[in-house]
Amino acid sequence: MTKLLAVTSGLLLILGLFFVYESGYDQAPVVQAGVDIKLGERVYLENCATCHGQKGDGKGPEAHRLKTKPRDFTTGNYKFRSTPSGSLPLDDDIFRSISRGVRTTSMLAQLHLSEKERWAVTKYLKTFSERFKSEKSLKPISIQTKPSFSAELVALGKVMYEEAGYGQCHGPRGRGDGSSANELKEESGNPIVPANLTLKPFKSGPNPEDLYRTVSTGLNGTPMPSYADSLTARDRWAFVSYVLSIATRDRPRGMMGLVEEEVEGMRIDMRAAMARMMGGRGMMGRGGGMMDRNMRDMMKDMMGR
Ligand code: HEC
Repeated sequence: MTKLLAVTSGLLLILGLFFVYESGYDQAPVVQAGVDIKLGERVYLENCATCHGQKGDGKGPEAHRLKTKPRDFTTGNYKFRSTPSGSLPLDDDIFRSISRGVRTTSMLAQLHLSEKERWAVTKYLKTFSERFKSEKSLKPISIQTKPSFSAELVALGKVMYEEAGYGQCHGPRGRGDGSSANELKEESGNPIVPANLTLKPFKSGPNPEDLYRTVSTGLNGTPMPSYADSLTARDRWAFVSYVLSIATRDRPRGMMGLVEEEVEGMRIDMRAAMARMMGGRGMMGRGGGMMDRNMRDMMKDMMGR
């Protein structure tokens, strides 16, 4: 009976984790020196390989059932970065994706891992691509201070949107249904659909600065280009303010407020948690088991402080 109770509360805890996106991790991470690559490997094999593959090639056993395919880390192509188009991400960028997850996909926030474990797995991901040995990370783009959003700025963004042909991909009204929307592919060959800009939240994060970053850096390995050279900082903010003005609807959500791919991610993450438990790492608590963290630390991250 006690065991049953413990398992149930363990499962409830895990479920709780999947509501972290909105209120969750939102702070500048503190880089930790001396992270342990062995720890990173263990964390990876237990939590990530099922989707991203043991060799980091995006071909884990669950990958075939996922619509948005898990990243192939061997190419060094990262979508969500603060660095210029085509270049490698910073550690902070990788850490941010792991801590926040990628909204609307099966990649959920991995806050059941401690900060130390998330840094360790960040380092471990980099071992999959030779590029991290031969290339230097470039300086991140600077995010200019956000101007106050005025009707004029939104109007300027709208004109830019209409004139610059964004509508070809994202559609004349930003609904992700432009004329070329169905033909787009990632460099990996996987099909990709442009974001519906009228639905919140966006993949790369909920804040205006996240959108500004995406417009400035582009998404490596996808048709979404960088506008850092072609648009001034003010024009990029105008574009962001226009997008935010049309992003008025919440994405339709099903079971437990999650979209389909997020539910799939939850199922896969729960299976991994059960496997850890059955693998003799005990039920819960620090240093092993279903939850690798104590509750108080986890809540702190979920509240973003
Ligand atoms: C349920 C499947 C699944 C699991 C488990 C999973 N991921 Fe992911 N991950 C994905 C998918 C799918 C994407 C791609 C999202 C996209 O392209 O929009 C992704 C994207 C990422 C990214 C963003 C890469 C970029 O292009 O910027 C990072 C980093 C990442 N995952 C790391 C991890 C780590 C580390 C773990 C384990 C602690 C993990 N993932 C567990 C499915 C998963």
